[in-house]
Amino acid sequence: MKSLKLTNIGQLVTYNSEQQDMVVLENVEIAMEGGNIIEIGENLNSADEQIDCNGKLVTPGFVDPHTHPVFLDGREDEFAMRLEGDTYEEIAEAGGGIVNSINGVRNATESELISRVKTRMDRFLKLGTTTVECKSGYGLNTESELKSLKVINEVNKVHEIDMIPTFMGGHAFPPDFKNNPDGYVDLICNEMIPAIAKQGIAKYNDVFCENGYFTVEQTLRILEAGNGHGLISRIHADEFEDSGAALLAGETNCISADHLMAVSDEGIQALAANNVIATLLPGTTFFLGESEYAPYQKMKDAGVEIALATDYNPGSCHIQSMPFILALSCIYMKMPVLDALKAATFTSAKSLLLNGTIGSIEVGKQADLIVWDIEWVVQVPYLVSDQPIQSVIKNGKTVFTP
Ligand code: NIG
Ligand code: FE
Repeated sequence: MKSLKLTNIGQLVTYNSEQQDMVVLENVEIAMEGGNIIEIGENLNSADEQIDCNGKLVTPGFVDPHTHPVFLDGREDEFAMRLEGDTYEEIAEAGGGIVNSINGVRNATESELISRVKTRMDRFLKLGTTTVECKSGYGLNTESELKSLKVINEVNKVHEIDMIPTFMGGHAFPPDFKNNPDGYVDLICNEMIPAIAKQGIAKYNDVFCENGYFTVEQTLRILEAGNGHGLISRIHADEFEDSGAALLAGETNCISADHLMAVSDEGIQALAANNVIATLLPGTTFFLGESEYAPYQKMKDAGVEIALATDYNPGSCHIQSMPFILALSCIYMKMPVLDALKAATFTSAKSLLLNGTIGSIEVGKQADLIVWDIEWVVQVPYLVSDQPIQSVIKNGKTVFTP
């Protein structure tokens, strides 16, 4: 494998483990070999290949820790209904929403889904995302949940991006179990989770704990069944209403509680006391046209660690761009730019238990980084809808140039 050196970097902005803070370095070069960063400093030895960064910005690749990319078609029809005044919850109650994507996944062949997911991964990579967590959750029966996770694993084998698989049978109740929700929870716990664990095709187990979806009791059962089979818990918590999900995330030591638009003060305390990372998804608030963003400042003041993700999915948030998520975070949640970048790189890697290998540009870490076509990090959110990227480097290799 060829060695690679980045020269003429204007600013290198990254989390630094020794300083336990974001740092801005100038006049440094980065040397990479064997997929890893081997040296950061001035006037480094020459390498097989060099990239002149033209005095521009370099940051870690984005780590997107919450996406739902295994679906067949988009749900533009529901988007249009929302423009006419229907809410996400009303559409779901009328039989749309998550269950609307079930038929597509159940009827699709594995190769059809692989092709859709590959195209979506190409786009993530072009937008600077070098690692992406991917949930199942539109199959909602054993066969199609297994198929969805297999698709994630198959694409991961051939795609340059790194995909981290999460089982989300607890995404919604499929129509066949509408009148027997506990029966569906039994199916998840007794059949789906053991089958998934046997195949070793998921790392995490996520549940949509919300009024109208899974209750706190049902969520607890699913998370415990997952724990019993080696799956690590995450929760979709308190998205539209406070349903006590953040409290449960604290009690069950989830690695991450996500959404949190309606989290209570008690819920925030539970996250802080149990070191649960709050993964905020401002793209969803924006895409649904809502105005109450998750209470970032309150959580930060309480000592909760914050990660950012896209929540890319066909319904509530059809956004793949982490640079755009940074813009939303800065503008609507008033996140300082360096905090937002940390949340989208280091803390998001931590929420996937991968901060030992990715999420920052430090010697020994995987060489996943972005060479931007801008000079200062504030320009990432300032440019809002532009993606000014010169190259994306994954495992020490250039994988995208425009
Ligand atoms: O994270 N909140 C639950 N699940 C997704 C929505 C998925 C969909 O609408 O298809 C979310 O927003
Ligand atoms: Fe989600």
